Amino acid sequence: MNYQAVENRYSDMIYRRSGKSGINLPAISLGLWHNFGGVDTFENFRKIIWEAFDAGITHFDLANNYGPPPGSAEENFGRILKMDFQSHRDEMIISTKAGWDMWPGPYGDLGSRKYLIASLDQSLKRMQLEYVDIFYSHRPDYETPLEETMGALATSVNSGKALYTGISSYEADRTKQAADLLKSYNTPCLIHQPKYSMFERWVEDGLMDVLGDNGIGCIAFSPLAQGLLTNKYLNGIPEGSRAAKASGFLQAKEVTAERIEKVKKLNEIAKTRNQSLAQMAIAWLLKDERVTSVLVGASSTAQLADNLASLENLKFQADELKMIEEILAMA
Ligand SMILES: NC(=O)c1ccc[n+]([C@@H]2O[C@H](COP(=O)([O-])OP(=O)(O)OC[C@H]3O[C@@H](n4cnc5c(N)ncnc54)[C@H](OP(=O)(O)O)[C@@H]3O)[C@@H](O)[C@H]2O)c1
Repeated sequence: MNYQAVENRYSDMIYRRSGKSGINLPAISLGLWHNFGGVDTFENFRKIIWEAFDAGITHFDLANNYGPPPGSAEENFGRILKMDFQSHRDEMIISTKAGWDMWPGPYGDLGSRKYLIASLDQSLKRMQLEYVDIFYSHRPDYETPLEETMGALATSVNSGKALYTGISSYEADRTKQAADLLKSYNTPCLIHQPKYSMFERWVEDGLMDVLGDNGIGCIAFSPLAQGLLTNKYLNGIPEGSRAAKASGFLQAKEVTAERIEKVKKLNEIAKTRNQSLAQMAIAWLLKDERVTSVLVGASSTAQLADNLASLENLKFQADELKMIEEILAMA
């Protein structure tokens, strides 16, 4: 089947500016960490990308190691771009990253210039692209001088292989240092990608202020806590879910009785808002204007549609927020 993008694809999406940059990102972006690898079904995830683009999702997030096997998500995405999106490249923000273990030996991990530059070249080949829009340092590396890692990001931009720089999972102080360096290299940090959800709130302890003060965007990853903050695990671990899969990063042992107790209570609040829990969890992140985008994953077009509908109700009453805080604080 051939893909034809729908005409009105920009009518329902909300776009937010990434910090003090020229880039607007969709309030919901799509990540290809799980469900787009060599072990997954091509026609299934191809349709997820179609539906995403038709709904105004212009931002697709990858990394060198997404799969499994590592690299296969980039290869698959590259195939889909070639088959379906050749005339739409300039409507898309495509990101990739390097920082986690990718190939054997001392040069395939962490934050050296050697690793980052080689990895970006490999990513471009896999995706059959001339450039990516955002190239990230995927995680802090405490052994490599920050100047070297940020210098490599700046080189990626200066060589035309990336348009913007980004960092992921850097704590507040290191983010400030990284941002200062990137500014001094004339390749300012466009965006920070931290883990952020109702269940993971470390960013509220300083990072969001650094991002706000320094004009850097924020894109929240694993906003649904890998599926926990949905109705998926209310009655156990369903077959085929991330927690049930050998290749899934969500471990069955993380689906604890205490967590599910909270999820059930949160689900009741979502119902009173006429939202699914997934929708409420996304809206809850977007209530902070400094959150540029919420980076969801999806294993089906139905999940993506569910998540997109969160944009229909982003407002919270003070008592709803209070009840949510009380549930999250439960022991
Ligand atoms: N920078 C980093 O270090 C880092 C790390 C992790 C992720 N990320 C990025 O963040 C993206 C999102 O991460 P994530 O996949 O963990 O995000 P997530 O949105 O928290 O979890 C996605 C999973 O939740 C389930 N799900 C999604 N929508 C649902 C719905 N409406 N109802 C029921 N279940 C639903 C699906 O699980 P099932 O598969 O079980 O159906 C889906 O695979 C990644 O793709 C990647 O781009 C970055």
